[in-house]
Amino acid sequence: MASTPDLRIVCMGAGYVGGPTMAVIAEQCHNVRVCVVDISQAQIDRWNSDNLPIFEPGLDDIVKARRGINLFFSTDVDAEVKAADIIFISVNTPTKRSGLGAGRAADIKNCELCARKIAEVAESDKIVVEKSTVPVRTAEAVQRVLSSNDKGLSFQVLSNPEFLAEGTAIADLRAPSRVLIGGQQTPAGLAAIKRVADVYAKWVPAEKIITTNLWSSELSKLVANAFLAQRISSINSISALCERTKADVYEVSRAIGTDPRVGPRFLQASVGFGGSCFQKDILNLVYLCESFGLPEVAAYWQQVVTMNEYQRDRFSRIMIESMFNTVTGKRIAIFGFAFKKDTGDTRETAAAFIVKNMLAERAICAVFDPKVEDEEMYKELGYQGMSETSHPDLKKLVFSQESPLDAARGAHAIAVMTEWDEFKDYDYEELYSVMQKPAFVFDGRNILDHAKLREIGFEVYVIGRG
Ligand code: UDX
Ligand code: UDX
Repeated sequence: MASTPDLRIVCMGAGYVGGPTMAVIAEQCHNVRVCVVDISQAQIDRWNSDNLPIFEPGLDDIVKARRGINLFFSTDVDAEVKAADIIFISVNTPTKRSGLGAGRAADIKNCELCARKIAEVAESDKIVVEKSTVPVRTAEAVQRVLSSNDKGLSFQVLSNPEFLAEGTAIADLRAPSRVLIGGQQTPAGLAAIKRVADVYAKWVPAEKIITTNLWSSELSKLVANAFLAQRISSINSISALCERTKADVYEVSRAIGTDPRVGPRFLQASVGFGGSCFQKDILNLVYLCESFGLPEVAAYWQQVVTMNEYQRDRFSRIMIESMFNTVTGKRIAIFGFAFKKDTGDTRETAAAFIVKNMLAERAICAVFDPKVEDEEMYKELGYQGMSETSHPDLKKLVFSQESPLDAARGAHAIAVMTEWDEFKDYDYEELYSVMQKPAFVFDGRNILDHAKLREIGFEVYVIGRG
């Protein structure tokens, strides 16, 4: 950028949310200098290379066009934070693994660390924006930590949750359904909201920019994810009933989705939802409800997660029962390991839980996914309790293959875990020819041509279709 920028934005956390979000701000606002900082040197090195750390359609092109001009990636957190006008906090807030609220509460340790860092190095007033999904009232904690800076500076804390979905992040950011900005309803708070709203206003129509108080904004993100996940759990619960009654869940979903009050989206029955947000955010909501003395409300939302666990276990059970009640020593081709298509992200993927259940039965899982890296797969399996320490023969029982044909060779079954488009176009006659017979297909995403597969000779199971 030749001239001095009008505004300096820094984002702490170069992950699935921070990276794409800042790339699109840089793309849309050429007069804003955007810098993404991260404590991980490896992560920043990849953002500065041709091999970005995350796969997201369209992201490469933006980074290529804006990097070094008004988009930067750095580990020099102190200098960047010091120079910033607006600081986004976009670090991860995973479910706590130990201590109070373990397994449910969100760990906001990273957000607090960011606030402490800002308090430590700031020498001018800042607007601090929570981008990470956080429990309601986190802004209060962030504000208090910032206040420990005793240089007489003013900090305004805002909440601006991100609603992008992975795989469509760039499209979602360029044309968001809405931008939500929450802040204190004081003159200074409202002025800070306006400043951040003005950035988005460069490309987002005014009527799509919603402003609220801080707590509504923080809570809305958790509630949005809880409602979306609830739709999936609702239709998944009905898929089980369909299988018993010979109703077809895809017909039911179409029939109810045409009611505009219900709407067609997020009614796709599946092997279960995954991803870094849904389970984490609902568990967090459940924990919050309990903490505020609302056990019935907590139980209501807990059921969304329980139903998801049920669906994954039900799918595994059907696989085992179909294959004559034993999969011991049998090879199973796992098609897809990402939690959804068009991403290499494996966090909380349903595939890991199916693999876990297969591993318990001592089946052999040959995994093929077009984007997931081996290291990520084993990392996720590790999170779900499958490491080489607990399972010394893990890498003999679960491994990836270079092609679908390699995965299918000698397998008794193909289990579709991710709805990758390319899975629809494979030569299933060829796959059938290299498999054990009878050859099974368990379509956890209902994406294949089942009539054709049956014609070839496969035994096919589809969720919610008897
Ligand atoms: C995260 C949360 O999971 C989500 O709830 C929230 O809405 C947005 O932030 P994501 O971007 O997918 O989402 O997280 P991740 O890809 O794990 O990236 C977080 C980054 O923050 C990592 O690169 C990590 O190195 C970095 N980080 C973490 C810091 O820079 N500083 C810290 O103190 C902690
Ligand atoms: C979600 C929200 O959509 C997004 O707004 C929020 O910011 C972050 O969390 P993401 O986790 O990226 O985004 O993916 P999403 O498309 O919502 O899918 C989540 C999971 O639900 C995936 O495993 C997906 O395969 C599954 N799903 C989705 C279904 O099983 N059926 C459906 O009908 C839709």
